[in-house]
Amino acid sequence: MATILSVSGSPSATSRTAQLLRHLDTRLTARGHEVIPLDARTIPAEALLGADPRHPAIVEVTELFARADGVVIGTPVYKAAYSGLLKSLLDLLPQYGLVGKTVLPLATGGTTTHVLAIDYALRPVLSSMGAAHIVQGWFTLDKDIVVGADGALTIAPGPAEALAQVVDQFAEALSSRTALPAAVGRAA
Ligand SMILES: Cc1cc2nc3c(=O)[nH]c(=O)nc-3n(C[C@H](O)[C@H](O)[C@H](O)COP(=O)(O)O)c2cc1C
Repeated sequence: MATILSVSGSPSATSRTAQLLRHLDTRLTARGHEVIPLDARTIPAEALLGADPRHPAIVEVTELFARADGVVIGTPVYKAAYSGLLKSLLDLLPQYGLVGKTVLPLATGGTTTHVLAIDYALRPVLSSMGAAHIVQGWFTLDKDIVVGADGALTIAPGPAEALAQVVDQFAEALSSRTALPAAVGRAA
């Protein structure tokens, strides 16, 4: 079993990105992994904007990242890139805060014009933080994520299938990583 931190970088109180992540969390939990949800918008603004890595809220979040074997990073596309909120958080983590971790990058956006934002904007940041393995990510159009009056989430069939596939690939990458014999882990 792996420990996964599932981070939404949306500042929105009704975030589709966050709801999508919480939906996908259940798929990871069903595969036997422990999932810790984190919505960056719940981190106090003074901690993020004050750029104080010693703020208790930032210390707590840094420990969550350190504990995780895998990290899901979800962001809305803002101005052709990831959200400023997500960047504020990542900037407060240690330079190599993703060393040894398997990462699944996900984005939601309003137009397919920015379907590659994960690859040209987010992936380089995750690489610079030392991520061991960044698996294939997925961009989902906001109109394909529908939240009903009862709060139930529906994803359009095509994107739902693609998301299930990337989540399963992420889960498998984590399982094979945690299944490595201790001796192999030491040699690596
Ligand atoms: C300030 C702002 C900037 C945005 N810029 C883009 C953009 O450049 N490209 C795009 O495809 N969508 C853009 N969108 C649309 C959002 O990415 C999209 O609606 C997303 O699903 C919102 O996610 P959320 O509900 O989790 O916040 C923008 C939305 C906002 C509020």
